Amino acid sequence: MENNREQFGSRLGFILAAAGSAVGIGNLVGFPVNAAKNGGAAFLLIYALFVFLVCLPVMMAELAAGRQSRKNPLGAYRHFVPQQKLWHIGGWLSLITPYMIAVFYAVITVWILGYLSGIVTGNLDKLADSRHFGEFINSDSVFFYLAAITGLVGLILVSGVRDGIERGAKVMMPALFLMLLGLVVFVLFQDNALAGVRFYLIPDIGKITPEVVNSAMGQAFFSLSLGMGILITYGSYMDKANAIPSSARMVAITDTSVAFTAGLLILPAIFSFNPETNPDELSSSSISLIFTFLPKIFLAMQAAVGYFGASLVAGVFFLLVFFAALTSLVSIIEVPVSGTMDELGYSRRKSLYVLGTSMVLFALACALSFGRVDFLTSFISYGGSTKSFFELVIDIFYETILPLNGFIICLLVALRWQRDKFDRELEAGADDFRGTLFERYINFSLRTFVPVLLLLIFINTVMAKYFGISLLNLFA
Ligand code: PHE
Repeated sequence: MENNREQFGSRLGFILAAAGSAVGIGNLVGFPVNAAKNGGAAFLLIYALFVFLVCLPVMMAELAAGRQSRKNPLGAYRHFVPQQKLWHIGGWLSLITPYMIAVFYAVITVWILGYLSGIVTGNLDKLADSRHFGEFINSDSVFFYLAAITGLVGLILVSGVRDGIERGAKVMMPALFLMLLGLVVFVLFQDNALAGVRFYLIPDIGKITPEVVNSAMGQAFFSLSLGMGILITYGSYMDKANAIPSSARMVAITDTSVAFTAGLLILPAIFSFNPETNPDELSSSSISLIFTFLPKIFLAMQAAVGYFGASLVAGVFFLLVFFAALTSLVSIIEVPVSGTMDELGYSRRKSLYVLGTSMVLFALACALSFGRVDFLTSFISYGGSTKSFFELVIDIFYETILPLNGFIICLLVALRWQRDKFDRELEAGADDFRGTLFERYINFSLRTFVPVLLLLIFINTVMAKYFGISLLNLFA
């Protein structure tokens, strides 16, 4: 059995694929703005602590669960606890969550591609008009871009783990790093850029409230692609000879570095091309930032580098975001694909057809929920407001459920996975890991405070989002 499963071709291939999953819109836009608004370097420090002290253990647990079971998330839970069906809920959640996240992430990727092609065809000025976004998302061209993305992702995934996912990451990730560095250097040389750097990095402890700590944790968890079944699935394609601890660390370092570096691009750009910006008023929504605010900033560059130059910079930026989004999208769709392949015995191609068709239908429902179809636009009311279908999907699958999935995987490690078996899986390919403080820390954290923290975050989000009760205020 084991020999038939597809595998990543090399350790580097795995790291690039997992980093490709982790590096996404959250890093490039979400993190910089969150950090800038919430205490600068103080936020960065809290974020980094969460990444390495809380998220890294969960990441290693997911990878180990995948590699030991050689299965998709549902298969993994079944592997560890064959009899007690209650545990399989963890597996189902880790299949449904990525399925639905893929749906809304695909819609955002569609918009990015739309903006990219708008810039390439010389229309940066139109994109910078505040009315454009609303018109664009309700235009028929989104169907065209959705078809293009579906084709592109399908093409990558149908080629399999090594020739599709790994090869795609090996092309797109280095290109992404280069584009990011190039843009940072360009922006840092503009007038006033240092004001942005200062604003980004000067620590302001006063801004660190319980809410901010909570959002740093959520940001870190999402950014590392945890709780989405992705790392279980990618772990199942990992060679036993490749070390989990050091590979996971590399992925976490890459992800955090990209997030940090993106801040050196976004904030100086904002400050040098629009010095009047009041940063506290920057929208905390990545979506409105990417699609309404940043095009204006790019257009403002024409004073310094001309319209063509401004379009070039904007084009490179959108291509960068597009690559980041595409590699994330590929990773998340692979989860249900591996699920149907393992559990239903489908071929890769058949899984892709079946899942692809149903996901496109859901994505269409999202795309039509911005005013085109009333029923989908005012889909449901809770927590005091009416939400569209798109917002509902984001609220449940992105905002709420990830920490719960993380909590369940910790429970699996703590209650159902014998300690020496777990250790042996982590040690495979990493002899020097045995008996280290790091190993003890991983075990200790996954069995104690990490699950407690994840459960608290989950409960707090549910109370705040759906019942309008803020538990964090109790501590404030
Ligand atoms: N880490 C990704 C991001 O920052 C999260 C993600 C992964 C989202 C996979 C969707 C799919 O955007």
